[in-house]
Amino acid sequence: MGQLEGRCVFITGAGGVLGSTYVRRMLADGARVVATDLPGERADGLQDRHGEDPGFGFYELDVSDEAAVEAIFQRVMADGWQPNVVLNNAAITGEMLMGKGKAFPDFADTSVEDFEKTLRTNLTAAFMVARQMDRDIVGNYPATLINVASMYALNGAHHGIYEGMPFKNFSAYGVTKAGIHGLTVWLAGYWAGRQATVNTIAPGAVYNGHSGEFQRRVSELIMAGRMGQPDEIADVMLFLASEAAGYMTGQMVNVDGGFSAW
Ligand SMILES: NC(=O)c1ccc[n+]([C@@H]2O[C@H](COP(=O)([O-])OP(=O)(O)OC[C@H]3O[C@@H](n4cnc5c(N)ncnc54)[C@H](O)[C@@H]3O)[C@@H](O)[C@H]2O)c1
Repeated sequence: MGQLEGRCVFITGAGGVLGSTYVRRMLADGARVVATDLPGERADGLQDRHGEDPGFGFYELDVSDEAAVEAIFQRVMADGWQPNVVLNNAAITGEMLMGKGKAFPDFADTSVEDFEKTLRTNLTAAFMVARQMDRDIVGNYPATLINVASMYALNGAHHGIYEGMPFKNFSAYGVTKAGIHGLTVWLAGYWAGRQATVNTIAPGAVYNGHSGEFQRRVSELIMAGRMGQPDEIADVMLFLASEAAGYMTGQMVNVDGGFSAW
């Protein structure tokens, strides 16, 4: 028996680097998986890889669209899925917000519009998914929510490592990731006694084709001396999604090779 037997996992932003790893690993470990993402190449890739698996379902979902989030659990339940694990994984990175290849503005030139777009996708959307979970799931059967933060939630970025790189650490990113853990601790108490737990996972720097120079700079800040692999984050995500994590709530788990401990 896999450690996720009996789990039905609902995940946002499932087609990304980490999301797609969670989907693959969770299916292999016995979970049924309801994957959601924006339409596009990532969504198509997921469906190409797992579409034949009867334990896999895919739904287009823009997490910043309130009406779509309000309808999503009823939609998937009408199709026979009963999610008991919900993963707030979708996020917009600074790079995605600006568009690949476009120069990042300095902090002084950052627009309120870009800041608020990031808030909407990374934080307001997580609140909307949690609120819908409260309306449609919590109290009806036992369930758990996992919010995804970052090593930049409670630690500032070493901005120097981004010097000359095509991407930077964007102010709204860290702000939203700190807020995510605020949502976790608030909800943990609110759901106490209702058979619903909620925790935060805070991944570190995950390797995704970064240049040798960037790897060298960031690795100096990591006790493990290297960037992480998506499967190393998935190892901990699978535990949090499993029954074995049933006595944990309101916690943040750092999976960052020691970055946050220095
Ligand atoms: N990769 C890392 O190094 C790292 C480190 C710390 C935290 N994280 C966090 O882990 C999570 C997954 O990151 P990733 O590396 O897989 O990123 P990614 O950019 O590869 O994937 C993010 C996914 O979110 C989706 N998304 C963006 N806006 C959306 C919207 N409005 N509605 C629905 N989906 C939307 C994208 O389509 C994409 O599939 C994010 O919350 C990210 O902040 C990643």
